[in-house]
Amino acid sequence: MWEKPALSEEEVFISRAVEKRKREFRAGRHCAHQVLTELGYPEASLKVGEHRQPLWPPGIIGSISHTDQFCACVAMAKTEIISVGIDVEKNEPVDKSSLPLICTRREIGAIEEMQSSIDLPLCKLIFSAKECVHKVYYPLNQHTLDFLDAEIQIDVDHRSFEAIIHNPEKSPKLPIKALKGFFHYDRHYVYTIMMKELE
Ligand SMILES: CC(C)(COP(=O)(O)OP(=O)(O)OC[C@H]1O[C@@H](n2cnc3c(N)ncnc32)[C@H](O)[C@@H]1OP(=O)(O)O)[C@@H](O)C(=O)NCCC(=O)NCCS
Repeated sequence: MWEKPALSEEEVFISRAVEKRKREFRAGRHCAHQVLTELGYPEASLKVGEHRQPLWPPGIIGSISHTDQFCACVAMAKTEIISVGIDVEKNEPVDKSSLPLICTRREIGAIEEMQSSIDLPLCKLIFSAKECVHKVYYPLNQHTLDFLDAEIQIDVDHRSFEAIIHNPEKSPKLPIKALKGFFHYDRHYVYTIMMKELE
Protein backbone atom coordinates (compact mmCIF):
# COMPACT_ATOMS: atom_id res chain seq x y z
CA MET A 1 0.00 0.00 0.00
CA TRP A 2 2.96 2.38 0.47
CA GLU A 3 4.46 1.72 -2.94
CA LYS A 4 1.73 0.68 -5.38
CA PRO A 5 0.55 3.75 -7.30
CA ALA A 6 -2.85 5.12 -6.34
CA LEU A 7 -5.51 5.77 -9.02
CA SER A 8 -4.23 7.85 -11.95
CA GLU A 9 -6.53 10.80 -11.06
CA GLU A 10 -4.94 10.75 -7.59
CA GLU A 11 -1.34 10.25 -8.70
CA VAL A 12 -1.36 13.63 -10.51
CA PHE A 13 -1.35 15.31 -7.09
CA ILE A 14 2.00 13.77 -6.16
CA SER A 15 3.73 13.68 -9.53
CA ARG A 16 6.43 16.06 -8.31
CA ALA A 17 6.45 14.99 -4.64
CA VAL A 18 9.46 13.48 -2.85
CA GLU A 19 9.45 9.73 -2.20
CA LYS A 20 8.34 10.01 1.46
CA ARG A 21 5.28 12.05 0.46
CA LYS A 22 4.44 9.63 -2.36
CA ARG A 23 4.55 6.71 0.05
CA GLU A 24 2.25 8.26 2.67
CA PHE A 25 -0.19 9.63 0.08
CA ARG A 26 -0.46 6.24 -1.65
CA ALA A 27 -0.95 4.41 1.66
CA GLY A 28 -3.71 6.85 2.62
CA ARG A 29 -5.50 6.50 -0.71
CA HIS A 30 -5.28 2.68 -0.70
CA CYS A 31 -6.54 2.65 2.87
CA ALA A 32 -9.45 4.90 1.90
CA HIS A 33 -10.35 2.77 -1.14
CA GLN A 34 -10.37 -0.32 1.05
CA VAL A 35 -12.67 1.32 3.61
CA LEU A 36 -15.06 2.52 0.90
CA THR A 37 -15.12 -0.97 -0.68
CA GLU A 38 -15.81 -2.55 2.70
CA LEU A 39 -18.70 -0.13 3.18
CA GLY A 40 -20.10 -1.17 -0.22
CA TYR A 41 -19.39 2.05 -2.16
CA PRO A 42 -18.19 1.92 -5.77
CA GLU A 43 -14.51 2.65 -6.45
CA ALA A 44 -13.87 6.38 -6.44
CA SER A 45 -10.80 8.56 -6.63
CA LEU A 46 -10.17 10.95 -3.76
CA LYS A 47 -8.83 14.17 -5.21
CA VAL A 48 -7.07 16.82 -3.13
CA GLY A 49 -8.84 20.02 -2.04
CA GLU A 50 -7.32 23.47 -2.06
CA HIS A 51 -6.19 23.11 1.54
CA ARG A 52 -4.92 19.56 1.18
CA GLN A 53 -8.18 18.03 2.42
CA PRO A 54 -9.18 14.74 0.76
CA LEU A 55 -12.30 15.18 -1.38
CA TRP A 56 -14.65 12.33 -0.52
CA PRO A 57 -17.41 11.14 -2.88
CA PRO A 58 -20.77 12.94 -2.37
CA GLY A 59 -22.55 11.85 0.81
CA ILE A 60 -19.42 10.42 2.43
CA ILE A 61 -17.18 11.90 5.11
CA GLY A 62 -13.83 10.58 6.22
CA SER A 63 -10.35 11.25 7.43
CA ILE A 64 -6.82 9.97 6.81
CA SER A 65 -3.69 9.93 8.95
CA HIS A 66 -0.25 8.46 8.36
CA THR A 67 3.11 8.31 10.02
CA ASP A 68 6.18 6.70 8.49
CA GLN A 69 4.93 3.15 9.14
CA PHE A 70 1.29 3.36 10.10
CA CYS A 71 -1.69 4.55 8.13
CA ALA A 72 -5.35 4.78 9.10
CA CYS A 73 -8.54 5.92 7.47
CA VAL A 74 -12.11 6.32 8.65
CA ALA A 75 -15.09 6.90 6.37
CA MET A 76 -18.85 6.81 6.77
CA ALA A 77 -22.07 8.02 5.21
CA LYS A 78 -22.78 11.64 6.13
CA THR A 79 -25.91 11.36 8.23
CA GLU A 80 -26.12 12.59 11.82
CA ILE A 81 -22.31 12.81 11.91
CA ILE A 82 -21.27 15.61 9.57
CA SER A 83 -17.49 15.66 9.98
CA VAL A 84 -14.86 13.27 11.31
CA GLY A 85 -11.14 13.55 11.98
CA ILE A 86 -8.49 11.03 12.97
CA ASP A 87 -4.84 11.46 13.80
CA VAL A 88 -1.97 9.12 14.64
CA GLU A 89 1.32 10.33 16.11
CA LYS A 90 4.39 8.56 17.43
CA ASN A 91 4.27 8.01 21.19
CA GLU A 92 7.24 10.28 21.80
CA PRO A 93 7.56 13.54 23.72
CA VAL A 94 7.25 16.82 21.87
CA ASP A 95 10.39 18.91 21.61
CA LYS A 96 10.41 21.33 24.58
CA SER A 97 10.84 24.38 22.37
CA SER A 98 7.59 23.53 20.50
CA LEU A 99 5.50 23.30 23.67
CA PRO A 100 4.39 26.98 23.78
CA LEU A 101 3.49 26.83 20.07
CA ILE A 102 1.17 23.88 20.63
CA CYS A 103 -0.21 24.33 24.15
CA THR A 104 -1.80 27.26 25.96
CA ARG A 105 -0.60 28.19 29.46
CA ARG A 106 -3.62 26.42 30.95
CA GLU A 107 -2.86 23.25 28.98
CA ILE A 108 0.77 23.33 30.14
CA GLY A 109 -0.48 23.61 33.74
CA ALA A 110 -2.85 20.67 33.23
CA ILE A 111 -0.05 18.57 31.73
CA GLU A 112 2.10 19.20 34.83
CA GLU A 113 -0.78 18.12 37.08
CA MET A 114 -1.83 15.02 35.15
CA GLN A 115 1.35 13.67 33.56
CA SER A 116 2.13 11.26 36.43
CA SER A 117 -1.24 9.49 35.94
CA ILE A 118 -0.49 8.22 32.42
CA ASP A 119 2.57 6.89 30.56
CA LEU A 120 1.85 8.91 27.43
CA PRO A 121 3.38 12.34 26.81
CA LEU A 122 0.29 14.50 27.26
CA CYS A 123 1.68 17.25 25.08
CA LYS A 124 1.77 14.78 22.18
CA LEU A 125 -1.83 13.85 22.94
CA ILE A 126 -2.81 17.53 22.86
CA PHE A 127 -0.96 17.95 19.56
CA SER A 128 -2.77 15.00 18.03
CA ALA A 129 -6.15 16.15 19.40
CA LYS A 130 -5.60 19.55 17.78
CA GLU A 131 -4.75 18.00 14.43
CA CYS A 132 -8.07 16.16 14.76
CA VAL A 133 -9.81 19.46 15.45
CA HIS A 134 -8.35 20.82 12.22
CA LYS A 135 -9.51 17.80 10.21
CA VAL A 136 -13.06 18.16 11.58
CA TYR A 137 -13.24 21.97 11.54
CA TYR A 138 -11.65 22.77 8.18
CA PRO A 139 -14.06 20.81 5.94
CA LEU A 140 -17.04 22.48 7.67
CA ASN A 141 -15.73 26.05 7.75
CA GLN A 142 -12.86 26.23 5.23
CA HIS A 143 -10.83 27.87 7.98
CA THR A 144 -7.56 26.81 9.58
CA LEU A 145 -7.44 27.31 13.31
CA ASP A 146 -4.12 28.03 14.95
CA PHE A 147 -2.91 25.59 17.61
CA LEU A 148 -3.58 28.22 20.28
CA ASP A 149 -7.14 28.92 19.01
CA ALA A 150 -8.41 25.76 20.70
CA GLU A 151 -7.86 24.32 24.16
CA ILE A 152 -7.93 20.60 24.96
CA GLN A 153 -9.28 19.29 28.25
CA ILE A 154 -8.21 15.70 28.79
CA ASP A 155 -10.16 13.09 30.73
CA VAL A 156 -7.49 10.47 31.34
CA ASP A 157 -9.88 7.96 32.99
CA HIS A 158 -12.33 7.90 30.09
CA ARG A 159 -9.65 8.22 27.37
CA SER A 160 -11.54 11.23 26.04
CA PHE A 161 -10.99 14.93 25.52
CA GLU A 162 -12.93 18.06 24.75
CA ALA A 163 -11.68 20.82 22.46
CA ILE A 164 -12.95 24.28 23.34
CA ILE A 165 -12.69 26.65 20.37
CA HIS A 166 -11.69 30.01 21.84
CA ASN A 167 -10.94 31.83 18.63
CA PRO A 168 -13.22 30.52 15.89
CA GLU A 169 -13.58 31.67 12.29
CA LYS A 170 -15.18 35.14 12.51
CA SER A 171 -18.28 34.38 10.41
CA PRO A 172 -18.35 30.60 10.30
CA LYS A 173 -20.72 28.58 8.13
CA LEU A 174 -21.19 26.35 11.15
CA PRO A 175 -20.49 27.90 14.55
CA ILE A 176 -18.69 25.37 16.74
CA LYS A 177 -17.90 26.06 20.39
CA ALA A 178 -16.65 22.64 21.46
CA LEU A 179 -15.87 19.23 20.03
CA LYS A 180 -15.53 15.90 21.81
CA GLY A 181 -12.97 13.25 20.98
CA PHE A 182 -11.44 10.01 22.18
CA PHE A 183 -7.91 8.67 22.36
CA HIS A 184 -6.05 5.42 22.61
CA TYR A 185 -2.34 4.68 22.83
CA ASP A 186 0.19 1.90 22.82
CA ARG A 187 3.96 1.99 23.13
CA HIS A 188 4.35 3.05 19.49
CA TYR A 189 1.58 5.53 18.78
CA VAL A 190 -1.15 7.78 20.12
CA TYR A 191 -4.45 7.63 18.22
CA THR A 192 -7.18 10.29 18.35
CA ILE A 193 -10.62 10.54 16.78
CA MET A 194 -13.18 13.30 16.82
CA MET A 195 -16.64 13.69 15.31
CA LYS A 196 -19.07 16.56 14.86
CA GLU A 197 -22.73 15.66 15.07
CA LEU A 198 -25.62 17.47 13.43
CA GLU A 199 -27.33 19.68 16.02
C1 LIG B 1 -2.66 19.04 7.63
C2 LIG B 1 -2.16 18.55 8.94
C3 LIG B 1 -3.35 18.41 9.89
C4 LIG B 1 -1.50 17.18 8.72
O1 LIG B 1 -1.27 16.53 9.93
P1 LIG B 1 -0.08 15.48 10.14
O2 LIG B 1 -0.20 14.93 11.50
O3 LIG B 1 1.19 16.09 9.73
O4 LIG B 1 -0.35 14.36 9.10
P2 LIG B 1 -1.47 13.22 9.08
O5 LIG B 1 -0.87 12.12 8.32
O6 LIG B 1 -2.03 12.91 10.41
O7 LIG B 1 -2.62 13.90 8.24
C5 LIG B 1 -2.45 14.17 6.90
C6 LIG B 1 -3.78 13.99 6.22
O8 LIG B 1 -4.71 14.93 6.75
C7 LIG B 1 -5.67 15.19 5.75
N1 LIG B 1 -5.81 16.63 5.65
C8 LIG B 1 -4.89 17.52 5.25
N2 LIG B 1 -5.41 18.76 5.26
C9 LIG B 1 -6.69 18.65 5.68
C10 LIG B 1 -7.73 19.58 5.87
N3 LIG B 1 -7.56 20.88 5.61
N4 LIG B 1 -8.93 19.12 6.28
C11 LIG B 1 -9.12 17.80 6.53
N5 LIG B 1 -8.15 16.87 6.34
C12 LIG B 1 -6.96 17.29 5.93
C13 LIG B 1 -5.15 14.60 4.44
O9 LIG B 1 -5.86 13.42 4.16
C14 LIG B 1 -3.70 14.31 4.77
O10 LIG B 1 -3.17 13.19 4.10
P3 LIG B 1 -2.98 13.20 2.53
O11 LIG B 1 -2.42 14.55 2.19
O12 LIG B 1 -2.04 12.08 2.25
O13 LIG B 1 -4.36 12.98 1.96
C15 LIG B 1 -1.13 19.47 9.57
O14 LIG B 1 0.07 19.41 8.85
C16 LIG B 1 -1.53 20.93 9.61
O15 LIG B 1 -1.43 21.64 8.62
N6 LIG B 1 -1.94 21.40 10.76
C17 LIG B 1 -2.19 22.83 10.94
C18 LIG B 1 -3.56 23.12 11.37
C19 LIG B 1 -3.83 22.60 12.74
O16 LIG B 1 -3.61 21.45 13.02
N7 LIG B 1 -4.32 23.49 13.63
C20 LIG B 1 -4.69 23.13 14.97
C21 LIG B 1 -6.14 23.52 15.20
S1 LIG B 1 -6.56 23.49 16.89
